[in-house]
This record gives sequence, C-alpha cells and structure tokens, in this order.
Amino acid sequence: MLFDPRPKTSRSDLFNYEEELSRLIKLFDDPLVVVSGLRRTGKTSLVLTALNESGKPYLYVDLREGFSSYRQLYTLLAKSVSELAHRASKRRGILENLMRLLSRIRGVSIYGLEISISWSRREKPLLSELFGVLDEIGGKAGERVVVVFDEFQHSRGSIGWVLHNAIAHSYDFDKNLSFVLTGSEMGVLYGILRNPENPLYGRAYGEVRTRKLTREESIVFLEKGFNEAQVRVEREELERVVEELDGIIGWLAYYGYLRLKSAGNLENIVEEAVALAKSELESFLSTRVSGRYRLILKLLAEGVREWRALKRHLEKAEGREVSDRALYEVLQQLKSHSIIDEENSFTDPVVKKAALRL
Ligand SMILES: Nc1ncnc2c1ncn2[C@@H]1O[C@H](COP(=O)(O)OP(=O)(O)OP(=O)(O)O)[C@@H](O)[C@H]1O
Ligand SMILES: [Mg+2]
Repeated sequence: MLFDPRPKTSRSDLFNYEEELSRLIKLFDDPLVVVSGLRRTGKTSLVLTALNESGKPYLYVDLREGFSSYRQLYTLLAKSVSELAHRASKRRGILENLMRLLSRIRGVSIYGLEISISWSRREKPLLSELFGVLDEIGGKAGERVVVVFDEFQHSRGSIGWVLHNAIAHSYDFDKNLSFVLTGSEMGVLYGILRNPENPLYGRAYGEVRTRKLTREESIVFLEKGFNEAQVRVEREELERVVEELDGIIGWLAYYGYLRLKSAGNLENIVEEAVALAKSELESFLSTRVSGRYRLILKLLAEGVREWRALKRHLEKAEGREVSDRALYEVLQQLKSHSIIDEENSFTDPVVKKAALRL
C-alpha cells in the first residue's frame, strides 16, 4: 500500500526510487555508506527495501529511539540483535552461528530467540566484540552483514564517541561488514564524518541521497495511491495538496492515509501535519538553552530572512544589543539541522507553518 504510514519494506510499495535502490544495493559491498535526505523523504524506506531486496543478513538500529547512555545503547542493540535472530530463523546456518558466537561473549544472555546484553560496568561487552560476531557470521556465510544506524546524527557525546570508535575499528578490520548510516539533520551528520578529530574521519564512504519529488511526480504518487484504494479524488485537490505539502513523500503519504480513513478534508489534514511538525520543533527547542531560536524561527517564518532585519528584530525583542556571532550561531544550527537552507528558507512548508505558531 503506497499510503501505508510505516516505512516501506518492499519494492512493490516503493515509489520512484528505482535508481537509488539499485545503487544502495551495490553499495552494500562497501564498508561504509551514508544515506542522507530531508525528513520524511524516504530514507528508512529506501534502506529497509534495499536490505530486503538484497537478501543480506542485517542489523537495524534506530538511534532516534534514544541514545544517551550505555543502558539505552545496549538495550537498543539487544532488541536489534533479537530481531536479526528472528529473521535468521529462516536461515539455519546463520542463526546457529549467531547463537553460538553470542553465547561466548561476556554479558550476553540468550532466552530462545531473545537476546539481552548487560550494560553494567563490569559485564558489558565491547561494541567491537559484538561487531566481531557479525563479521564472523558474514565470513562463514560468504556475504557481508549490513549494520544500519538510522538517524546516526543522534550518536553524540561520550557514548557517541564509543560507537564511532567501534565503527572505525570495524571498518579497518572486519572485512565482512558494511555500515549504513542515515541522517536527516545533514549538517550534524556530515559534521561528525568531516570532523578531523572524529575516529571516523578520513574513511571513504559511498552516498545515496533521497530528495523531494517534483510536482508531477507528487501528483502521480497521489494518483497511484488513490487508484490502489479505488478512490477518486479530483485533480484540482491533488494540485492543492502538492501546493501545501511540497514533494515531501512522507507528508503526501500522510495526507493519502488520512484522506482514505476519511479523517477530514485537506484543511484538517494539513492542520494535523502542522501540529505534528510543531511538536517536533518544540522538542528541538527543548534541547536549546537559548530562547533566541524560537524568535528567529518565527521571524523566518514571517518572511524576515535578511541578516540586518533579523538582527534588528532580535535586538528589539530582547531590548539589548545582540552580537553578529550570536545570530550566526542560531542560523548555523538551524541549517545544520536542515530546518532552513542556505538562503534562510524553510526546507519544509509544513514546518514553516508550524514555526508561525511558536
Ligand atoms: N518511495 C516511497 N514510496 C512510497 N512511500 C514512501 C516512500 N518513501 C517514503 N514513503 C512514506 O513516507 C513516510 C516517510 O518515510 P520514511 O520513514 O521512510 O522516511 P524517512 O526519510 O526515513 O523519514 P524520517 O526522516 O522521519 O526518518 C512513510 O509513511 C513512508 O511509508
Ligand atoms: Mg527514517
């Protein structure tokens, strides 16, 4: 189903990404691949579909689920390894090797197909030991095992460093692993990879980018989705949808999904999308110390994009002088998180609407 709101996992449900799909499948033979693109442009769908199509064994870890302590990281990894075990239950050789090798590692417990990994200081295994197990499985199966870290830019702080080190080590020594790192906050993601002090620095990687659909592609996507559900929607409505939501496939699918559930008309659905985007902006703002972000976002959404005008408004609101550096820092961070582009325009019209309500 094209309008299914979950990430797609099969080629038949994946709209339009044929070329990117075959490129990514080829890149699974390289040690490191980066999949980047704006939010909701189909990164996770592309990666999961490529993994299914390639038939390779894989570990999928979604760092958006929380990443700030060993406890969180190891819980996530245990869940991902258990999922790998479940998938591998169709491939006896892989499953047997996985269980045998894991059982030798300190801190790993196995209950049926469920794996738990200790995060205690004394017992926790090294990440490189876990990657080593996957590498050995790949070696024995004669194919690369793919290890995906979705939304990799969340790997920050000291735990992030531990993970980056382990990947760098594995890149050099584990010849049967391929790491796939995805990210929607592109400045932050590439900031990690291009930081000369980061352990990953200097290691070559292949790249695939997701993008917005063109106007025409967006209309075709919507038409296909409604045809599939045997529902007729006027072309005029579809054009208005694309006007409001741009070619961001995640929003288009969201609209299609709610429209089929007859959860309202275009206006209500856009309202819902804006509310969702607003709560995401709020959670971004909650991680910022400075209150300036809120004001700058609002000003940008109102169309104030020019440096001097932004500065003037900011100073007026705060009732004091604001340094160029402070304003630069805020804009830079918004760019880094792909909220605005180099021209200080919002990358997503729905987020722009949400910013007006901050
Ligand atoms: N090529 C595609 N064909 C059909 N639907 C798609 C496609 N790509 C994405 N979608 C739909 O768009 C939504 C967002 O997709 P997905 O989660 O894969 O994007 P993403 O880039 O990983 O998003 P995020 O940045 O939020 O992680 C989902 O509802 C998914 O089903
Ligand atoms: Mg995703």
